[in-house]
Amino acid sequence: MTVYLNGRFMPIEEACIPVLDRGFIFGDGVYEVIPVYSGRAFRLSEHLKRLQASLDGIRLDNPHSAGEWTSLINELIARNAGDDQYLYLHTTRGVAKRDHAFPQPTVTPTVFMMSSPLLQPAADLLASGVSAVTAADNRWLRCDIKAISLLPNVLLRQQAVDEGCAETILVRQGSSDEDSFMTEGAASNIFAVSNGMLLAPPKDNLMLPGITYDVILEIAAANQIPFQVRKIAKPEIFNADELLLTSSTKEVLPITRLDGKPVGNGKPGPMFARLHTLYQNFKRDVMRQP
Ligand code: PDD
Repeated sequence: MTVYLNGRFMPIEEACIPVLDRGFIFGDGVYEVIPVYSGRAFRLSEHLKRLQASLDGIRLDNPHSAGEWTSLINELIARNAGDDQYLYLHTTRGVAKRDHAFPQPTVTPTVFMMSSPLLQPAADLLASGVSAVTAADNRWLRCDIKAISLLPNVLLRQQAVDEGCAETILVRQGSSDEDSFMTEGAASNIFAVSNGMLLAPPKDNLMLPGITYDVILEIAAANQIPFQVRKIAKPEIFNADELLLTSSTKEVLPITRLDGKPVGNGKPGPMFARLHTLYQNFKRDVMRQP
């Protein structure tokens, strides 16, 4: 596997960073995950815009222009085998003596990129759906920044794995259940469906503005699928007819069990079926464009 590190492409075995890298010491950096279909990065400009927003959020200058990122990304895709890949790219505040405050003078940021094979969700997962658990969202208040410091997400996602489930659905706790709201998954966005209406939590500081989330809402708008962007109270997730999970690597998946109980009738529902088909068509059409 060929990776990119600080200006050079190299085999992954040769890629090394100094132990004083602030990404290693403080988790002081941001990242992106970009799907590649038929050798082309999907929604690249949206991913680069979100990267800029994350960098602005941590007050780190962008090490590259959009044009430079695009050339580096295209070269990384070309150097790795497989039409469908997913790219992980990551930039940190660089290497400096350990001190929480930003290094003065500024040091060169570390830039790392790698590619992995992108596997389509297995047919049996699409047919049966996946299970999820709920947990209190105990993360910080800037979940809109795609920060590499993912310890809360790691611990929350592991709760799902410990219970044989695929994802943990996070709930910001209020003073009552009606006052508690679903934010997202530990590594995905979550939609609910109620009486034919697609419900999406609002993009605010409490969730990552998912690129796949935006595609789903664009598809819904273009196909007269009724949707509302609004807070989704905790009881609504347990009473939903369907729950859907979205991310760049999972695309759209049905959640058919929550905390050990069936979601709706316990089978992937009509909203999932429709959005999944439309998503595949959307991808195909985008990739056909010159
Ligand atoms: N994660 N919310 C969180 C907390 C995420 O980590 C992700 C994706 C999403 C979905 O965003 P998008 O549709 O842009 O992939 C929402 C990636 C895939 C990861 O960390 O591997």
